[in-house]
Amino acid sequence: MLLLLGMMACAGVSAQGKALHDAACLQCHASLSGGNAYQLYQRSDRKVKTPEGLTKRVKSCALAADVSWNEAQREAVVRYLSDNFYRF
Ligand code: HEC
Repeated sequence: MLLLLGMMACAGVSAQGKALHDAACLQCHASLSGGNAYQLYQRSDRKVKTPEGLTKRVKSCALAADVSWNEAQREAVVRYLSDNFYRF
């Protein structure tokens, strides 16, 4: 039961991360990569290689996106990207 609750909590964080991500991050990435915003995360020569690198990149891109996320929000976006693309 506890495990199940834990898994549901994780899924919730990832979904919150997706919502934050899609609102703030998709547009610029799409314009960079010919319309497919997710290509940046999926290309074979992607830059982010480690969980630490992902956190750093999300921090700096959050500045570019001009959002002021708190740590929990940033972590939710890191979780979403990690679960769906980077698989750390
Ligand atoms: C104003 C434009 C812009 C916005 C807004 C933006 N990014 Fe980025 N993002 C970039 C650029 C430029 C790169 C680097 C592309 C490259 O290396 O070729 C990048 C790369 C990344 C990467 C690394 C991709 C890789 O190569 O592994 C991540 C992760 C990322 N962005 C996350 C985010 C997140 C999360 C947000 C929303 C807070 C965001 N970005 C908003 C411009 C932006």
